[in-house]
Amino acid sequence: MGDALYFYRFDASRFTAKTFQVKNWRQMLLMKKIIHLIAAARPNFMKIAPLYHALKAETWAEPMVVHTGQHYDINMSEAFFRDLMLPDPHYHLGVGSGSHAEQTGRVMIAYEKLLLEGRPDLVVVVGDVNSTVACTLAAVKLGVMTAHLEAGLRSFDRTMPEEINRIVTDAIADILWTPSADGDENLLREGAAPEKIERVGNIMIDSLEMMRKRIMAEDAAARYGLKAGEYGVVTLHRPSNVDKAEKLLVLCRTLVRVSEALPLIFPVHPRTMKNLKSFGLYDELAAAPGIYLDAPVSYVPFMNLVFNCRLAITDSGGIQEETTYLGIPCLTLRPNTERPVTVKAGTNRLCTPETLEAEALAAAARGVNPSPPPLWDGKTAGRVTASIRNRGRP
Ligand code: UD1
Repeated sequence: MGDALYFYRFDASRFTAKTFQVKNWRQMLLMKKIIHLIAAARPNFMKIAPLYHALKAETWAEPMVVHTGQHYDINMSEAFFRDLMLPDPHYHLGVGSGSHAEQTGRVMIAYEKLLLEGRPDLVVVVGDVNSTVACTLAAVKLGVMTAHLEAGLRSFDRTMPEEINRIVTDAIADILWTPSADGDENLLREGAAPEKIERVGNIMIDSLEMMRKRIMAEDAAARYGLKAGEYGVVTLHRPSNVDKAEKLLVLCRTLVRVSEALPLIFPVHPRTMKNLKSFGLYDELAAAPGIYLDAPVSYVPFMNLVFNCRLAITDSGGIQEETTYLGIPCLTLRPNTERPVTVKAGTNRLCTPETLEAEALAAAARGVNPSPPPLWDGKTAGRVTASIRNRGRP
């Protein structure tokens, strides 16, 4: 705790009072509101980065990055902090991997300790990973105001761990910032109080716009000897696709067939790499001349690969959104999506291992126009900042 200073503050607008902690006299004089931004796994980093930068520019806000350590490999975490110009995390909980209960439990225990050492004024959780629900549970039970950015998304598939994380987080968070109208509808149907819900748009698009110049300046495909517009990008990591040997085998064989017509760049997620190797599928995939396997690629070069690809094949949530914004055909290897606006926009199509080959060949030939949903405009971080300010700040 070092030299932390404790004060008692009376909030006349809400007739409440609470103790608060400041790090030094300068901060006390400025009376900055401490806002924890929770980052845990790869897709979280591009959601907190624009908000961190927007809040940092405000005189009244002191954003602090809390990294739970769910993703810990350099190329799953550190490289993203660098690319997105995030500072080193102010707090690192170092929880690492484990079963769902172990990971969720470890984050809750570690984050509760941090909250007890010094209460922030607001906790912002993003997305749907185990750390999202774990930090929300710890904060809400201590009465710390908690906001969920990317609230309201539903796949209606409770076999997905992320769906459980979304439902629980939205049921207990105090502020629900949604990316699209379907998010509002889902929350209202589940009984969320309307005054908690605010549609702010898609924060991922802010990151993309924030980094656009640097993304455009890269030629990431050249690393593989490929040219813009002459390849597809593949990412796969959902347990439902990669944890069963038979399914992963069918997917690998289909990707090899597609790659005979369209070369495929495939940065492999650690979960998928582990399984490719343990199921004995890695060598066959690596030997296919049209398949370019790589380690996970950091944000700027990866987005450059997406900007210039003919087609994305994925089971990620973020890539469905980014391709919709950019007007690039995307095939999502899932029976459902919590992002139906991407399907409505005409860029995204759901497919199965059995339909993938035909769909991929047709999609590579079809052009789509970008038709981003309303508020997917690169200005979401500004709307979130205004929302915090308008709610009387935390
Ligand atoms: C998690 C999220 C998922 C998100 C994805 C993005 C949950 C339930 N899932 O899935 O919503 O789309 O991140 O990547 O929170 N591993 C490493 N190095 C790392 C991180 C993980 O080797 O830096 C290994 C772990 O040891 C584990 C496996 O990858 O065996 C899965 O990691 P985990 O965090 O459990 O889930 P993801 O599949 O990454």
